[in-house]
Amino acid sequence: MPVNVLVGSQWGDEGKGKMIDYLSNDMDLIVRFQGGDNAGHTVVNDKGVFKLHLIPSGIFKEDCISLIGTGTVANPDVIIKELEEIQKAGVNTDNLKISGKAQILMPYHQVLDALMEKKGGIGTTKRGIGVAYAFKDLRKNFRFEDLLDEESLKDKIKNFLPSINGFLKVYGADEITEEDILSKTSEWSEKLKDRIVNQHELIHDYIDNDKNILFEGQLAAMKDIDLGIYPYVTSSNPVAAYAAVSSGFPAKQIDNVIGVAKAFSSAVGGGPFPTESTDTEIDQLRGSGEKPDDEYGARTGRSRRLGWFDAPIVKYTNEINGYDELALCKLDKLDELDKIKICTGYRLDGKDIDYMPTTTELEKVEPIYIELPGWLESTTDVRKIEDLPENAKNYLKKIEELTGASIKYVGVGPGRDEIAI
Ligand code: GDP
Ligand code: IMO
Ligand code: MG
Repeated sequence: MPVNVLVGSQWGDEGKGKMIDYLSNDMDLIVRFQGGDNAGHTVVNDKGVFKLHLIPSGIFKEDCISLIGTGTVANPDVIIKELEEIQKAGVNTDNLKISGKAQILMPYHQVLDALMEKKGGIGTTKRGIGVAYAFKDLRKNFRFEDLLDEESLKDKIKNFLPSINGFLKVYGADEITEEDILSKTSEWSEKLKDRIVNQHELIHDYIDNDKNILFEGQLAAMKDIDLGIYPYVTSSNPVAAYAAVSSGFPAKQIDNVIGVAKAFSSAVGGGPFPTESTDTEIDQLRGSGEKPDDEYGARTGRSRRLGWFDAPIVKYTNEINGYDELALCKLDKLDELDKIKICTGYRLDGKDIDYMPTTTELEKVEPIYIELPGWLESTTDVRKIEDLPENAKNYLKKIEELTGASIKYVGVGPGRDEIAI
């Protein structure tokens, strides 16, 4: 199908990187359409183990363009470092392109993010994401196309600098000069200029010619700035429709929305997490951090908060995104559990509720659980959903029934091909 959008369906880290790497086989263009290097998308394939922060997870497919798109806030130093790491693993990165309209995430955005977190934060990744988006809304950012026009860039620096330094001063950080900015931008221009493209022309050319495009979402709808657990959210819209908004094509041209869910729940950072659990079965899923699929943040290394599968959350994000297909990753992690819980609804102040409550109410809800028998056998070698153990199939059926989404892919291991279809 030509226009596909893949998004997280819970709190992030569902397995989007692995699914993009898998789906890239059929794609001509893969576009990261929001967020920045707060992302950590893990890809495990024949080239190695990668934790990608900005470069789309389709970079491993040679004849496919990987685009850091309009809608993102991209730190050029991170792009350059990531390119070097991937190239060292023998991957050809000629096809990595950057939209001229992507926002440049500057070093002072990161400095301010860290300082704001110190003064009462929400547990951000400290990559400067919220500040970069705030400066975008204030119209005080540089974009990648500015790296191609030095005169206009110099005018913008003069114009923006008093405001930038005003913020730095308020937060007690060192002020910066025009030369500080120019020394960075000239280095970035030198290293990245040949990758900067006109995204509008590229996308419309690919759509008009029925090429296969996959938009790669970062994070997930529960952390959406408008629809998620505000204020414990990121500063962009990690929802399917934003792929069309940021890329400038009609939303009705999206043919297929793929939601990615984890077979249990995990979250990083603050905010409500109704099914968070300290049950030993759940705690065992974390691992020690040595394996690529242990539950530690791919960006910050923080130990992830863990819990049972929360059906109201995926039902809510399905209402937002409209999943044509759901990929349920990490089913194999439940292979050894005797009993598995699913949250089917919430109780608030003693009453069952059937709507997504406010952030404050979500802190107080009591999850209602059903308990299903585990399957107690390995699923890692299964490649067809019909061949999964009966109890695993019952678990999937229950999730479909409660969320309204149809499961097309089941992740049974971290590797590219460890998928049952
Ligand atoms: P993303 O941010 O959505 O791309 O997800 P992350 O890469 O941050 O976290 C997902 C983790 O689960 C990574 O460690 C992956 O290697 C791992 N993973 C993805 N799918 C599967 C699966 O089906 N089984 C197992 N065991 N691990 C998986
Ligand atoms: P991927 O794409 C999980 C969380 C942070 C914090 C909140 C805001 O790998 O799923 P930010 O730095 O964006 O201002 O932090 O969002 N967060 C993520 N959690 N996976 C991510 O990305 C995340 N990106 C941001 O922990 O709670
Ligand atoms: Mg991640």
